[in-house]
Amino acid sequence: MPLRLFLTSGDLMADRRFEFARDLQLKGDLPAAADLLEQTLELAPNFTSAWFTLGEIRSQLGERDKAIAAFRKSRESDASDQHGAHLHLIRLGDAHLSEMPKAYVQALFDQYAPRFEHVLINDLDYRAPSLIFKAVVAARVAAKKSALFKRAIDLGCGTGLAAAAFAKQVDHFIGIDLSPGMIKEARATGLYAELEVADMIEGLRGRGEASTNLVVAADAFVYLSDLASVLSEARRVLAPGGVLAFTLETHDGSGIVLGEGLRYAHAAEYVRGAIAKAGLKLLTLEPASPRIENNEPVSGLVGVAEKT
Ligand SMILES: C[S@@+](CC[C@H](N)C(=O)[O-])C[C@H]1O[C@@H](n2cnc3c(N)ncnc32)[C@H](O)[C@@H]1O
Repeated sequence: MPLRLFLTSGDLMADRRFEFARDLQLKGDLPAAADLLEQTLELAPNFTSAWFTLGEIRSQLGERDKAIAAFRKSRESDASDQHGAHLHLIRLGDAHLSEMPKAYVQALFDQYAPRFEHVLINDLDYRAPSLIFKAVVAARVAAKKSALFKRAIDLGCGTGLAAAAFAKQVDHFIGIDLSPGMIKEARATGLYAELEVADMIEGLRGRGEASTNLVVAADAFVYLSDLASVLSEARRVLAPGGVLAFTLETHDGSGIVLGEGLRYAHAAEYVRGAIAKAGLKLLTLEPASPRIENNEPVSGLVGVAEKT
């Protein structure tokens, strides 16, 4: 069973009914699961996890209006939106594309942290850190510049896989991540000189101008919709000649979309424009798949940019 967030209703009977409804959902008896959740919600009208699960089931049943109503209730009953109901409302066309609820990202990765590397590396053929490493080395070799960096910042550092890829290239690694659970795993690696629990844009804002030689973001910008702020902050903290390297998920259309996996996909043209607007020089932007999903390689990009 996939890991999922559970927010108790505070009513033992309602919680038990919810668990039973989840069993029915997992067994594929969606109408019975929906009925039971409706009854549960009469007992506990602010039961966020029940509203969210009802939204999912109504979506699975193709009942769009009812799904929207349930996801709205989920969002209303937990203003921080730890379940990420808002993302489902975007997918259902009931909300405009906007940034992810931070509480959702935090809850997702806090839950994921202890088994993150196992799942990514064994089940999803995860490659973002090594794609970034190879792209940075290739760009530096092409420019006849050293691929050794004094100070680096790892945005959305997770458990530390990017720092492991660059361990021999960097003297002082700073990791920034929204999830305390991920930061705890990163700390255990001993690879970082500094670690900070923060939103990556806020974390960059707290760092000095021209204080860094390398900024990496492995599979982390996929949790940001608009890249303008993070790119301009990255440019500010980079010393002249410093490098920004990242992976993204992409799509064939234009602009930004929220994909089925609830991560943003940025069109290559959007990325080129955003890098130029931030005042960075794009060195490479190549198609590359960071992971597999549903047995298919995810369509992605690996990019390297420079502060001139
Ligand atoms: C898929 S993981 C990748 C982790 C790591 N970079 C790696 O390659 O293994 C994405 C990470 O980005 C973090 N994250 C997502 N949005 C963030 C934000 N706005 N600010 C800081 N960290 C964020 C998540 O908490 C998570 O640890």
